[in-house]
Amino acid sequence: MDAVPDHDFSRRLTAVAGEAETALERLLGNDALPGEVVRPPRLMEAMRHAVLGGGKRLRPFLVVESAALFGATGHGPLLAGCALECLHCYSLVHDDLPSMDNDDLRRGRPTVHKAFDEATAILVGDALLTLAFDILAREEVHPDAHVRTALVRELGRAGGIGGMVGGQMLDLAAEGRFEAKRALSESEIITLQAMKTGALLRFACRAGGILGKADAAASAAIDRYGAIVGQAFQIADDLLDVEGDTATLGKAAGKDAAAGKGTLVTALGIEGAHAKLDALVAEAESVLKPFGAKADVLRATARFIANRRT
Ligand code: IPE
Ligand code: IPE
Ligand code: MG
Ligand code: MG
Ligand code: MG
Repeated sequence: MDAVPDHDFSRRLTAVAGEAETALERLLGNDALPGEVVRPPRLMEAMRHAVLGGGKRLRPFLVVESAALFGATGHGPLLAGCALECLHCYSLVHDDLPSMDNDDLRRGRPTVHKAFDEATAILVGDALLTLAFDILAREEVHPDAHVRTALVRELGRAGGIGGMVGGQMLDLAAEGRFEAKRALSESEIITLQAMKTGALLRFACRAGGILGKADAAASAAIDRYGAIVGQAFQIADDLLDVEGDTATLGKAAGKDAAAGKGTLVTALGIEGAHAKLDALVAEAESVLKPFGAKADVLRATARFIANRRT
């Protein structure tokens, strides 16, 4: 059942991405906020380089659309999505550092440490990470302080030790950086990816449930949907590293195998990884069944994530 055709989905993604861009531009202005002394111009310029003018904005989109499923609309969900996007952009800036993946190109432009310098890139990451929590704690996100506290706690966990940061640690370990390299099992790769990439996408969907005060059953369903699209997202990323090209991706292709990354493409092969993606899209559809036509955008989003070319 495909009530939302893919061109409607694209129009919606473009609209939310545009709104997120405007909100992010505002959040990254030069004027100091109450409690800040000054905003150093070089830091602001480098943060804008990291965040603005690129990126699919899928995480803000997932927050906005998941929240809409539970009747929460407007500026609050958009702002929560922007907080998550700031944390995501920090993860990209640090992921690209010479001591991490050592990449020169991101979103079709030089990475922050190339356009500026390594110390600035580290500080850009630090500032985006802390900004994410500053934003989430703002009253505009939601009038109920319990909702804001839940978002702050959940983002801390999704982005931290047992989430994105922990996953990046496992990712580097899998390259054999700290001890002898050993091939990871399929389930070890799934765990690693659920952390390094899945956790933030899952948070995006959970955040929708929190903002819309979803009941227990609906919260569990949107959480499961988030875990599924999170897994699909990194499989697609790993496939694009093999099948995509640098110009289209806006980041270097063909690096994972050389770096010895543990991916499902190495574990299952290209065909196997595509089959896994198809299975995940089918699972996403089935999890969304109870929501009926209201979840059509999220159905289209799962297909987009699995079939994306950038
Ligand atoms: C790239 O994420 C990093 C991964 C988690 C694989 P995206 O593909 O969402 O990157 P942007 O934000 O669109 O540039
Ligand atoms: C990165 O995974 C996930 C992050 C936490 C940033 P990758 O290293 O595969 O992401 P890309 O391919 O550089 O975007
Ligand atoms: Mg990486
Ligand atoms: Mg990388
Ligand atoms: Mg990758």
